[in-house]
Amino acid sequence: MQSSMVDKTRTWWLAVLKDEARLNAWLVRLYNNEKDAYERFLDFARRFCKGRQNKEAWYLFHFIAEQERRHAHMVLDLLISRGIVQRNNSGNSERYWSKVLPCVQCLQTAAGVGALAEGLSLERMRVIISCKETPGTIRKMFLEIEPDESVHARTLADLAKKHGIRKVIDCHSEGLIALGLKLAATATNGKPRKGPKSRSITTTSSK
Ligand SMILES: [Fe+2]
Ligand SMILES: [Fe+2]
Repeated sequence: MQSSMVDKTRTWWLAVLKDEARLNAWLVRLYNNEKDAYERFLDFARRFCKGRQNKEAWYLFHFIAEQERRHAHMVLDLLISRGIVQRNNSGNSERYWSKVLPCVQCLQTAAGVGALAEGLSLERMRVIISCKETPGTIRKMFLEIEPDESVHARTLADLAKKHGIRKVIDCHSEGLIALGLKLAATATNGKPRKGPKSRSITTTSSK
């Protein structure tokens, strides 16, 4: 993660911490994102792991889904301990996934979007862990989740191979733009730049 991105993520996180309602809403969103991730990986296994040759991928998607389910429970415990009764909220993640999921056409592209989304949330998580202002209960939870997410990002990237990542990278960039995490392409010398290549400006939530 670029140092400017780290700084911007830290600035975003400190602002969230100063506003309890915003923090609680973000935690509810995190809970839903973990639940969605659980369902998404099961869906990938169902759609793209038919036949013997994809048995290993089937196990990987199921292994990751089970960890996502566990993460959702951990976040739920945190919601309960903070007295948060809300369970549903409309998050940013739909904006991201509406751009990304159409790119999922095969096993490798499914793994590719998984790898990129996991990588994004992992980067944010590491900033939150390193921030001394992060409440102890939240840091403790992320310290438990972080090693799992690191394995998810790595194993999914291995499964996607360069082909899978290349096929979905533009959709991922479009998703980041939709989230406001990147600036859309700007005109250069009077001509628009090709593709959704863009500058990152901050980071919030994608997974
Ligand atoms: Fe997770
Ligand atoms: Fe994950």
